[in-house]
Amino acid sequence: MPGRFITVEGVEGAGKTTQIRLLAGWLRARGHRVRETAEPDGTRLGAAIRALFATAPGPEPLAEAFLFAAARRQHVVEVIRPALAAGEIVLSDRFADATLAYQGYGRGIPLGAIEALNQLATEGLRPDLTVLLDLDVATGLARLEARPLDPFEALGLDFHERVRKGYLELAGREPDRFVVIDGHRRPEEVQAAIREAVGRLLR
Ligand code: TMP
Repeated sequence: MPGRFITVEGVEGAGKTTQIRLLAGWLRARGHRVRETAEPDGTRLGAAIRALFATAPGPEPLAEAFLFAAARRQHVVEVIRPALAAGEIVLSDRFADATLAYQGYGRGIPLGAIEALNQLATEGLRPDLTVLLDLDVATGLARLEARPLDPFEALGLDFHERVRKGYLELAGREPDRFVVIDGHRRPEEVQAAIREAVGRLLR
C-alpha cells in the first residue's frame, strides 16, 4: 500500500504538536504505521539548522529561506521519501507551505522565488492533505507565554498576521489539498475535525 503524506500548518500556538500526537495515536490504533516528523528539525542536519536562527545577527530573509530549504531537502531525502516508500503515513509538523507563509508573506520574499526553492528541495513532492489550524495570532502567542520565545515567536503581531493571512490564501488556492480547521475550538473538537479529513483521505 502506498504511503500517505499529511502536513499540519498554522501560526504559533495553534496546537499542531498536540493534534499531531493525538492523530498519530488514533492512526496507530487502527493499524497504520505512522512516522511523526517536523520541520526544520526532522533530521539532525535540520536541528542544527534551527540552532542557526538564534545566532546574532540572525540570517537575513533570503538566507533564512535557503536554510529552511536546505533542511527540507534533507528531510525529504532522509525521512519522508523512504517512509512513504515503505508505506507509512508521514505526519509532518510544517513543510513547504511554512516557507511560503513565513518567508514569503511574513518576510516579503517573492512567492515565485520560494516556489522555485521548494520545487528544488522537494522535487515536486506535495502533501496528500494539509491541515491548517487557523487561529487569531494574539490568542496563539498568548498560549506560548509559559516558556521563552524562539526567534520567530518573538517577531511582532504584524508579522504573524501576515503569516496567518498567507496560510489562508494558500488554502484558498488549493482547496482540494487543504482542510482549514478553526483552532479556537476545544482540542477534542479540533481533533475530531482532523480525523474526519484524514479518514476521508484514507478511504
Ligand atoms: P515550530 O513549528 O516548532 O513552532 O518552529 C518552527 C519555527 O520556524 C516557527 O516559528 C516557524 C518557522 N518556520 C519558518 O519560518 N519557515 C519554515 O519553512 C519552517 C518549516 C518553519
